[in-house]
Amino acid sequence: MSQSQTSFVAPLRRMRRLRRSEPLRAMVRENHISLDDLIHCIFVEEGITEPVEIKTLPGISRFPESMLEAEIKELQQLGVRYIMPFGISHHKDEAGSDTWNDDGLLARMIKTIKATAPEMIVIPDICFCEYTDHGHCGIIDGDHHVCNDVTVENLVKQSVCAAKAGADMLAPSAMMDGQIRAMRDGLDAAGYENVAILAHSAKFASAYYGPFREAVASELKGDRKGYQLDCADGRQALVDAMLDEQEGADILMVKPGLPYLDVLARLRDRTDLPLAAYHVGGEYASVKFAAMAGAVDERAIVTESFIAFKRAGASVIVSYYTKQFAQWLAEDK
Ligand code: PBG
Ligand code: ZN
Repeated sequence: MSQSQTSFVAPLRRMRRLRRSEPLRAMVRENHISLDDLIHCIFVEEGITEPVEIKTLPGISRFPESMLEAEIKELQQLGVRYIMPFGISHHKDEAGSDTWNDDGLLARMIKTIKATAPEMIVIPDICFCEYTDHGHCGIIDGDHHVCNDVTVENLVKQSVCAAKAGADMLAPSAMMDGQIRAMRDGLDAAGYENVAILAHSAKFASAYYGPFREAVASELKGDRKGYQLDCADGRQALVDAMLDEQEGADILMVKPGLPYLDVLARLRDRTDLPLAAYHVGGEYASVKFAAMAGAVDERAIVTESFIAFKRAGASVIVSYYTKQFAQWLAEDK
C-alpha cells in the first residue's frame, strides 16, 4: 500500500535500524558486564569440618576454614578477581572483639586468601554483627541502642587488624556516623594509607537481608532501623553517601541493589567517585527460587540485573551470583 493513501507519516528517526541484527546492537551497546566488575561473597565458618548449605541461598554454602584455600583456587581458576569474605564466628561477645584479634577469624580468613591467591583483591566486610552475641553492628547500651562513637573506635581497631592481615580494601557496613573518617585516619596512622575503603554509604534497613541473616546465623532480635536508612528516604541516602565522600571513602556503595536503583542513579549525578551496588541475599534468593521453579531464565535475569546496575552508574557489583556467572562465562568458551 502506498503511504500517501494512509495517515502514516514516516518517522524521521527509525530507532529499529540499529536493532536489526546482533552486530548492530553490539556496535552501539552502552554497557557491558565482565568479571572486572564483580565481587564474589563467601561465607567462612570456624569450628566446622564440612560445608553447610544455606537453605535460604540455594547453591551457597558456609565453608570450613580448612576448605577456604581450595575454594579460593577454584574461584581464581574461574577468573574471579575480587572477594568479600564474611566470617561466622564461634567467639562472639558483646563487642565483637574477635574482629580485632590478630589471630581471630577475620584476620585468619584474609591471611589464608592472600597466601593462596596474592593477586586476588580481598575486601572484607567491616562490621561486628557476625561477632557480637546480640547480633547488632556495634556496642549496645541498656536500651539496645548501638553506641556510635565507641563502636567507631572499635571499627578502627578492626580495620587496622584487617589491613595488617593483608586486606586490600575494606567494606565498612555498620552505618555509624563518622566511621569513614575515623577509619581513614586510623589506617593512615598505622601505615596503611594504600588500603582503600569501599563504603556501604547508602545502606537501607531492608527485608532483603533476611536470607543473609540465616546465612550468618545472626543473633539479632529486632531490627537495625536505629542506624540503617529508612527505605522511604532517598534524599537522606544521598546526604549519607556524600558525607562518606567527604570523609575519604574511595568507592560509594548503595545496598540493596535493584530496589534502590533510583538512589544509585541520583548518586551518579552527584559524585565522580566510582560507585558500587550490592545485589543482596534477598535479590539472589528471589531469582534462584524463581529459577528453580522454572519461572525465569536464570542466566538471562542475572545478566539483566547486573547490566541494570551498570546502566544506573555502578562500576562495581557485589553479588552471590559472581561464581555462577564466572561458570557461565567459562561454559561459553
Ligand atoms: C552486616 C551486613 C549485612 C549484609 C552485609 N553485611 C546484613 C545486615 O545489615 O543485616 C547484608 C548482605 C545481604 O543481605 O546479602 N553489616
Ligand atoms: Zn553489621
